[in-house]
Amino acid sequence: MKPKILVTGGLGYIGSHTVVELIFAGYDPVIIDNLSNSEAFILDRIFSITNYKPRFYQGDCNDNFFLNEVFTTEQSIIGVIHFAGYKSVGESMRDPLKYYINNVGSTTNLLEVMHKYNVKLFVFSSSATVYGSPMRNPIVETEFIKEASSPYGSTKIVCENILKEVCQALPTLQVVSLRYFNPIGAHNSGLIGELPKGKPNNLVPYLTQAVAGLVDDLQVFGIDYPTADGSCVRDYIHVSDLALAHIAALQYLMTKTEGLYEVFNVGTGSGTSVFELITRFETVNSVKVPYTVGPRRAGDVPSCFANVDKINTTMGWASKKTLDESLQDVWRWQKTLIDINPIL
Ligand code: NAD
Ligand code: UFG
Repeated sequence: MKPKILVTGGLGYIGSHTVVELIFAGYDPVIIDNLSNSEAFILDRIFSITNYKPRFYQGDCNDNFFLNEVFTTEQSIIGVIHFAGYKSVGESMRDPLKYYINNVGSTTNLLEVMHKYNVKLFVFSSSATVYGSPMRNPIVETEFIKEASSPYGSTKIVCENILKEVCQALPTLQVVSLRYFNPIGAHNSGLIGELPKGKPNNLVPYLTQAVAGLVDDLQVFGIDYPTADGSCVRDYIHVSDLALAHIAALQYLMTKTEGLYEVFNVGTGSGTSVFELITRFETVNSVKVPYTVGPRRAGDVPSCFANVDKINTTMGWASKKTLDESLQDVWRWQKTLIDINPIL
């Protein structure tokens, strides 16, 4: 029997790519999603890529009754990958409670139901945002975690702390928190990718929409940072590589007999500036990126990229896809998006 893994938020951006890789790696993924930030047709796209349609339960991870029903129906779930949550930094500033209720509530609810059904493996979607303004780059996992720069970031710190404490109290629980750096790109089939609702806030989805003429010119937020060209530096990781890190995390947990709680950075280990990214996008896709230079965006840190030694040596995972591949894949996806919904 294939190992059955519950994937919450499995129709979302990172979740859908992870479901695809789980299927290819011989797992039996079961999806929960409330479609608050995704579309049901992604399930058909997963089928088109893998020739397998995972079971899908539409519902909310905050709904204890619903979760119990899923765990009862599915019986033999051995692990959970928990993507479900809200992720907009700006929205979390305007409505912090919405973020605490959904991001923290869904995590505690899941842990409670997992405990009831004796499910031991848990992979949590954390974020490099927990590092706030890091003391040094590349950032190691042992970097001191200060106050977060947004309520969204706080929810990730709170969830990590909850997981650590619950693991101490329940010594059979095996949990890994993956701190993602900047996920970009799309599946190379062009069939799944990010589906931003409204005007995107993140660099790559905004840039692709600007090139497609769907939004105003891209603004480069600040060119007076202490970096080589003055623009901010980030660690952009292809979403399919990130998906594979979840498979590596599951395999790692499955080799363990004792309970554990560990955190891992997931990035490429290299920093890329906004200007470098624009230039690479233009070169690999033979298009012009319309952009202007604007002021700094509040809360942005000059530089943020990962030290990935821990995940490399412990799990044998490393990112494989190049920035160029990410930018080609995301442009292919953007072009198909125009066909799906010309007003996106
Ligand atoms: P996404 O919005 O595309 O996917 C999240 C999915 O969860 C969506 O399909 C949404 O409908 C669903 N969802 C939200 N709340 C739910 C709930 N209570 N019950 C059931 N389903 C629910 O986001 P993503 O980019 O795929 O991010 C996945 C996870 O990774 C999130 O926890 C996010 O905070 C984290 N993360 C994302 C990034 C990034 O830049 N994308 C970076 C670091 C961490
Ligand atoms: N940027 C622009 N113009 C834009 C958008 C972004 O110049 O229109 C710049 C930003 O100033 C930043 C870089 O592009 O320097 C990347 O910005 P993003 O908004 O794409 O990503 P962030 O690094 O700010 O944050 C992202 C996610 C967070 C997550 C963090 C670390 O949005 O949720 O990566 O994983 F926590």
